[in-house]
Amino acid sequence: MSEVGFGVIGVGTWGRLHAEVYASTRGARLQAVCDADEARAVAVAEECGGAAYARYDELLDDPMVQAVSVVLPDFLHAEACLAAIRRGKHVLVEKPLATSEDEALQIVEAARTAGITLMVDFHNRWSPMFCALKAALTVGDIGSPRYAYYRLNDTIYVPTGMLPWAGRSTVAWFLASHCLDTLLWLFDARSAAQGGQGDLPVRLNCVTRSGVLTQERGVSTPDLYLTTVEWRSGLVTLIENCWILPEGEPSVFDLKCDVIGSRGAFHIDGSHHGAARLIGSGAANPDVLVAPRIHGRPTGFAAESIRHFADCIARKAEPMVDGIDGLAVTRLILLMEESAKRGCAVEVGELYAT
Ligand SMILES: NC(=O)c1ccc[n+]([C@@H]2O[C@H](COP(=O)([O-])OP(=O)(O)OC[C@H]3O[C@@H](n4cnc5c(N)ncnc54)[C@H](O)[C@@H]3O)[C@@H](O)[C@H]2O)c1
Repeated sequence: MSEVGFGVIGVGTWGRLHAEVYASTRGARLQAVCDADEARAVAVAEECGGAAYARYDELLDDPMVQAVSVVLPDFLHAEACLAAIRRGKHVLVEKPLATSEDEALQIVEAARTAGITLMVDFHNRWSPMFCALKAALTVGDIGSPRYAYYRLNDTIYVPTGMLPWAGRSTVAWFLASHCLDTLLWLFDARSAAQGGQGDLPVRLNCVTRSGVLTQERGVSTPDLYLTTVEWRSGLVTLIENCWILPEGEPSVFDLKCDVIGSRGAFHIDGSHHGAARLIGSGAANPDVLVAPRIHGRPTGFAAESIRHFADCIARKAEPMVDGIDGLAVTRLILLMEESAKRGCAVEVGELYAT
């Protein structure tokens, strides 16, 4: 099998993982990386392989790059995706696909016209915990789902110390995007939208609060969003996303999910990673699930989703998550913002229409 050449656009915290995965995946070759911070690009290329560029146009001009990961700040995804698609490259874009409906539609349409593969990296679909929940729902172990609670929060370090661009995004784009895609997938919304089995969101109510980040930390972004989604079947889901957990938390994120059904319940505690706890000067839960490096090789479900893209490109197969899934999530986050602004519930229209 000939190797596919991959490029990574943006090698900050998360792009570095993409580079490591391509460099360690059979059938894939890390051809090039790019970062506006050229020293960062050079350091990642030295460690993982490939050429280093400061401008992504240069990376996209390389004919040996057949597919790229776009791992830029949320609000820069659209321009880079469209540039890559114009040059015929397959694209794996980090969540969210884009931060406006118009941009999301443009990307989906451009990919369709160019005949390239477009995947959005909603990696919770590879999480062992959510896959077990999906299996339980599919076989009917908990009966019909009536209520779901999904909380995905970060410590305040994320918007103040990790993401220099947090003031140009929100915890809704950064974290609710994961929750919404997971719920749409768990309850088969796309199938329902096409007339098949499944459930569809019909109404959404969102409350947001600001203050800690803006006034005390000087980062212009809301502290939290609480979102209720009502589904066609009567199911109600409550999603909680905040960016102000104290830094002393043992994990940078806190993930809990409970699904209560007519005959049972399923509980997920994703923050404690199930297995490991380190007690030194403070308590920590080392990552053994999301992207741990095992004997130097990136593994875990976040690496798995990137490998899925590499595998789909090599096999010319359709990825499990595509641009239309990304479009649906972008639409829901825009509805969250609209609901919060208007102070009332909003109806959810067609999520998957292009
Ligand atoms: N950090 C996480 O845990 C995480 C997890 C999953 C997904 N993501 C997603 O990945 C994306 C990137 O997040 P991150 O945490 O890696 O951010 P980051 O700030 O660490 O990395 C972004 C990189 O993009 C570079 N960059 C900015 N503008 C550029 C341009 N025009 N051309 C080339 N390079 C440019 C920056 O120099 C930086 O190195 C976001 O969409 C985020 O939502 C992040």
